[in-house]
Amino acid sequence: MVKVPGPFKTPPSIKLDPKPLAEVPAEPLSPAQGGARAPLSASRRSEIPVFEVMQITDEVGRRRHAGHDVVSLCAGEPSARPAPGTLQPAGYTGPLGTTPLREAIAGHYRSWYGVEVDPARVAVTTGSSGAFQLVFLTAFDPGDRVALVSPGYPAYRNILTALGIHVVEIASGPATRYQPTPELLDEAVREHGDLAGLIVASPANPTGTMLGRSELAAITAWCSARGVRFISDEIYHGITFADPAVPQRDRRGVSAIELDGEAIVINSFSKYWGMTGWRLGWALLPEDMVAPFEALASNFALSPPAPAQELAMRSFSDETYEERDRVVEGFARARALILEAESSLNWGTAAPSDGAFYYYSELGPQLERFGDSSSYARALLEGADVAVVPGGDFDPVAGHRAVRLSYAAGEAAVAEALDRIIRFQG
Ligand SMILES: Cc1ncc(COP(=O)(O)O)c(C=O)c1O
Repeated sequence: MVKVPGPFKTPPSIKLDPKPLAEVPAEPLSPAQGGARAPLSASRRSEIPVFEVMQITDEVGRRRHAGHDVVSLCAGEPSARPAPGTLQPAGYTGPLGTTPLREAIAGHYRSWYGVEVDPARVAVTTGSSGAFQLVFLTAFDPGDRVALVSPGYPAYRNILTALGIHVVEIASGPATRYQPTPELLDEAVREHGDLAGLIVASPANPTGTMLGRSELAAITAWCSARGVRFISDEIYHGITFADPAVPQRDRRGVSAIELDGEAIVINSFSKYWGMTGWRLGWALLPEDMVAPFEALASNFALSPPAPAQELAMRSFSDETYEERDRVVEGFARARALILEAESSLNWGTAAPSDGAFYYYSELGPQLERFGDSSSYARALLEGADVAVVPGGDFDPVAGHRAVRLSYAAGEAAVAEALDRIIRFQG
């Protein structure tokens, strides 16, 4: 019997209780004089939850190491894009990336979205995660209010919180395709006060839902009328399964930059290009943010990784787009398997999975048996060696009723996982 650690819970942060006053000598000796060290503790900024997906991924690794045949629908990670046999020796690059790559990224906006972007406004970063840190630092001050929807990608909330920025969570659901609307934003302002920013992802994680051109335009217009910085996370562009009614030009996702030249667009080589481990992303910045962003980037990161930038230069050819589109066709087949199995899964309401290789569903009748999605996920991993992610990370209020499946694992893994889940539920 393999021993697995207890439920997926954020370990409580270790706090050292300060000594009771009575025990502290009136004039304590310094550590150099042989006195006791004053108790140290981690910063209050670091009191944010760990990303549960990464903990479960770790646990999947442990179970595999112990001989279990685990099927993981946990991490949002496509199989890695083949790397060239040789890369050039690499030194630092400019803090915003190499000029050829910044120009190539601008060219990507021309070819996918028909928009001219000045390469000087392109900042290459260490993944989109690096872009979030630098964009939030550049755009907001401690105490500012920034809105996002729940369920949503947990790192937005956690990075903002660590930076002392107030997070305004907008509860969303099927009525708005789990996306914000001007009405929901008005309501958030009435309840919490003026916003400094809004973060939106389309396709979104964990729901996979997308905003159409007119819905996105309504949101960018709402923000620009009120001086609210609009941040569009477009990391899942290109991984879309749009219905045939969506016009061809919008099928890969509508970029906020098409609608509002002042929008901050964040993207990454991780998902469509399958380069998660290379840690490379980018931001399109409004002109007023370029110099302050560069000041921060040059201190925080010095430069984005050079070998990754060299590989990324090979991302925008017709040949690479075709290769990546074939990978997306594989995701589409895996997605179809889940949609076909919906009634046998016997779960509750699911978000429409428009893109981003995620399927987010309430557990419905399964909750009566398992209590909540954390217990369900734990029982499924122990009983059937299938890893799924409970929704609590994505939605602190209602996520305990939902799970996320990532079908980036591919058709065979998804077929096997569905089989096991259905047998496990009996
Ligand atoms: C919505 C979203 N944004 C950003 C990221 C971060 O990706 P990276 O830092 O690899 O670019 C992820 C990763 O899963 C994501 O789901």
